[in-house]
Amino acid sequence: MLVIAHRGARGELPENTLLAFESAIEGGARAIELDIHQHQGEFWVIHDKWVNRTTDGNGPLTWHSYDGLKSLDAGKGERIPTLDETLKTLAGRCAVNIELKGLDDINSLVEHLELAVNEYGFAEGQLLISSFNHHWLAELHRIAPQYKLAALTANKPIGLCQFAQELGAYSVNVDIDVIDGQMVDDAKKRGLKIFVYTVNREEDWKRLQTLGVDGIFCDKPVDAVRYFSGITDQTRHWPN
Ligand code: G3P
Ligand code: MG
Repeated sequence: MLVIAHRGARGELPENTLLAFESAIEGGARAIELDIHQHQGEFWVIHDKWVNRTTDGNGPLTWHSYDGLKSLDAGKGERIPTLDETLKTLAGRCAVNIELKGLDDINSLVEHLELAVNEYGFAEGQLLISSFNHHWLAELHRIAPQYKLAALTANKPIGLCQFAQELGAYSVNVDIDVIDGQMVDDAKKRGLKIFVYTVNREEDWKRLQTLGVDGIFCDKPVDAVRYFSGITDQTRHWPN
């Protein structure tokens, strides 16, 4: 079972900050999920379009300049990290799932991924790009097919995991509200990994283990790593 630290060690520390990512790694997480929005050519590691919930600022990200965003407190004195800073800091020490929430220029994203591989110590197999926007994933697959894709869904589609297979995805990342044995079996039949978000309760960890999912996104990764000790995936790559 792969434990993926959801927005870092979000249960204990401010989400999507370098502090939360470091803490997740120190606690034994081998994979981290983060969210990005593109604004003025920069990728900002933040979940919401608005800064209100996670910082001491107000308004949409797009109202702010680079310096303005960097002056905001994202919790415990942390700053909103850029994707570049984050990849440079993580430096291949864990697998990373970059969830695309806002995207203007896909070529710029590919440049960031290339930099991660060529300069920051990541192997291509450590990077996984996900989104609920499957059009972005299709475009990424067209221009840079070497990167692994994860098709996110909060639904149980009529065609089950067919949409993910059609995208050429590596995994289907499914909401815990809709996961069931039929989805898991269908993903496996199609050669897709299946990861489930967001799973914070032990009862659900047990149930999903029985169902045979490949990984879980968790806000308390240290607890989940401890729970699955012995069968936690030890690699820092997305498993084959
Ligand atoms: O990638 C899994 C999960 O993060 C998707 O939902 O809203 O937490 O980004 P959200
Ligand atoms: Mg996310």
